[in-house]
Amino acid sequence: MPPKPVIIDTDPGQDDAFAILLALATPELDVLGLTTVAGNMGLAQTTDNARRIVELAGRGDTPVYAGAPRPLMRAPRPVPEIHGDTGIDGWDWAPAAQPPETGHAVDFIINTVSSHSGPVTLIALGPQTNIALALRRAPEIAAQIDRIVFMGGGFFEGGNMSPAAEYNILVDPEAARIVLGSGIPITAVPLDCTHKAPAPLGWSQTLADHGTPVMRACAGMMEFFERYGNAKYGTATRPLHDAIAVSALLWPELFDGRHCPVDIECAGELTTGMTVVDWLRQTGKPDNCLWLNACHDPAEVYARMGAALARL
Ligand code: BDR
Ligand code: CA
Repeated sequence: MPPKPVIIDTDPGQDDAFAILLALATPELDVLGLTTVAGNMGLAQTTDNARRIVELAGRGDTPVYAGAPRPLMRAPRPVPEIHGDTGIDGWDWAPAAQPPETGHAVDFIINTVSSHSGPVTLIALGPQTNIALALRRAPEIAAQIDRIVFMGGGFFEGGNMSPAAEYNILVDPEAARIVLGSGIPITAVPLDCTHKAPAPLGWSQTLADHGTPVMRACAGMMEFFERYGNAKYGTATRPLHDAIAVSALLWPELFDGRHCPVDIECAGELTTGMTVVDWLRQTGKPDNCLWLNACHDPAEVYARMGAALARL
């Protein structure tokens, strides 16, 4: 099988960093480029982080394009309390050797999808602002998008930024609604799935033991990332949400879910950003999404992820 061409839209974020490194390490994926969005950090920081990550992987030739500096209709909501002052705290990062590309992320998505020899898969790991803008500006590209795999939302698990809303959807609910209404095949990787896939206990030490720069960086980021989540949830280990989204694309046999209609609450007083999943198909609306809610073998997911990262 030829590698699957993908564009990764991202707001690194330690778990974004794992997702990007995993994608770059995997011969089954051809990473055509990274597009960045304001999310965990402001746009300048997420873009610089994306450059640092591709260079750490020894893949500085991967183009990085900066995109939307704010959500479609709302103010940005950076979360340094979760990800640290840089967004990828936990490792002493070398400054990026190369600047990002000069074009805009939305142009890159439109031009790449429309000129590529076959359908392209989009992996969305942050607020979905860039993808919504691309679909609004050039709706015809929908036909050439094989699938959108996004990390976001939570129905059975509720939210992680409000009782009802997960971070990526809460930051730009209008964008997520546009994406879900696009008619493109979508796989959602919500908290309902990622919470079933916590990293093995002490995984950061396993990573560190490999000794390579990538594995030591991953170990440091994992340790930092887990500290906040474990304190909040009272757990001893945390899931790498965005890396689980890439894992679900790579290894669908390890995950499960259901095709159903999903919509986004954009106006609720208490529920803005909620992913309203019609799990029992009560609305009669058409299915627009494969909503993952199970991971059969988290140990296997992290074993495969670790083996891939060790190749970098
Ligand atoms: C999502 O929110 C961000 O903080 C993470 O990078 C991930 O994409 C998890 O809710
Ligand atoms: Ca993210």
